[in-house]
Amino acid sequence: EKAQIGVTGLAVMGRNLARNFARHGHTVALHNRSYGRTKELVEEFGHEGKFIPSESAADFVASLERPRRVVIMVKAGGPTDAVIDEFAPLLEPGDMLIDAGNAHYLDTRRREAALKAKGLHFVGAGVSGGEEGALHGPSIMPGGPKESYDALGPLLEDIAAKVDGEPCCVHVGPDGAGHFVKMVHNGIEYADMQLIAEAYDLLRQVGGHEPAEIAAIFQDWNEGRLGSYLIEITAEVLKQVDASTGKPFVDIVVDQAEQKGTGRWTVQAALDLGVPVSGIAESVFARALSGGPDVRKAAADAGLPGPTAEKTHAGDLKADVEQALFASKIVAYAQGFQQIQAASKEYGWDIDPGAMAKIWRAGCIIRAKFLDFIKQAYDKQPELATLLVDDYFLDAVSGAQDAWRRVAATAAQQGIPAPGFASALAYYDGLRAKRLPAALIQGQRDFFGAHTYHRVDKDGSFHTLWATEDRKEVDA
Ligand code: 6PG
Repeated sequence: EKAQIGVTGLAVMGRNLARNFARHGHTVALHNRSYGRTKELVEEFGHEGKFIPSESAADFVASLERPRRVVIMVKAGGPTDAVIDEFAPLLEPGDMLIDAGNAHYLDTRRREAALKAKGLHFVGAGVSGGEEGALHGPSIMPGGPKESYDALGPLLEDIAAKVDGEPCCVHVGPDGAGHFVKMVHNGIEYADMQLIAEAYDLLRQVGGHEPAEIAAIFQDWNEGRLGSYLIEITAEVLKQVDASTGKPFVDIVVDQAEQKGTGRWTVQAALDLGVPVSGIAESVFARALSGGPDVRKAAADAGLPGPTAEKTHAGDLKADVEQALFASKIVAYAQGFQQIQAASKEYGWDIDPGAMAKIWRAGCIIRAKFLDFIKQAYDKQPELATLLVDDYFLDAVSGAQDAWRRVAATAAQQGIPAPGFASALAYYDGLRAKRLPAALIQGQRDFFGAHTYHRVDKDGSFHTLWATEDRKEVDA
């Protein structure tokens, strides 16, 4: 008997994906750079399904039915290229290499083009949900050629998370579309986490609540419109007490957030696309600020002064923070979805944004009730310019904005950093503004660089002769 699918790279993510396929009745070919891991998997989990372990790449390939489906689960970058170089010569036209790692979408585009020339299908698939998701049902975002999805999709859909029986997996679009969407998922994940962290900080520093009390607040919010995996685990983390000191766990952890890079990639790509993902950018920068101990120490040593304002809030802090969190979250998602739409246009991917919201409803890290409303918004209006103008979100933000402003003001007055809340609000007000000071910036550009401007009252490009006496306007 041949295997329906193979997995190479059997560290915990690869191992769990392989087990998930096997548990769904598929025969799974196994391969790893060192055979020890392969043997271990079969010894420990062999009873869960049918596995065909191979020591060599050639045997592994030979154990697969055609078209061959080879899932690669190794580190992004060089290691992925090395595995592709090893397997591509062993495969035949129509076979598929599926990169399930967090690859950069430009690498995926490059690899897809190179393998296409050899008649191979390269599928860059975003997989979210961590180790548990990989085993019990991740959210899967496969890109690559549409034809490959016919032979591959059903297997991926089998192992994906389900919402009302519907799989959290869909063909996202060609070449790098899947990895692009996974990257933006992670960017949104960063923003969500930052906003939650700011909410916690305000409740603690302004509200004077202890972590355990804040855990209860998050648990409570998790029952409402904020209900999501990240809110749920936040409550768990805040509840945790450190065994060795008896202190709240959150107080014994060094306050320097690390990152593996997908959030940064999202912002880099957004800069190139010209999409203002300020919420994601602030969250990446907030991590960078936290992780810059030298600068923080210099600031502490210099005693940068803070405000003398009393720790008060002109409203019901808990209710206001919930509103600020919800409104800022809407902005972050609106920006992320706008980035997906912009890339889809730029690369001709034809991504259905509603389908992305749909497959993020379970399995992935940003899974949330909220995504149902995003799906509905795009189902109603696939070309929606921004989620903020959809009825549901417009309503939510209208209801939240007073509280949101109070929270941003409190944070500013009391010197508590809340870049996520503040920048989301600034973005919202920027969109709302009838006139932006961008007009002045155009004037400055024209002054120093003759960069020209458009007029509100007639067509054409104009330039003012700033250096002349009469500063006459000319057609540019
Ligand atoms: C997921 C996660 C996953 C991983 C991130 C963490 O969707 O399952 O996003 O991809 O946990 O890479 O990213 P940082 O280490 O950059 O926070």
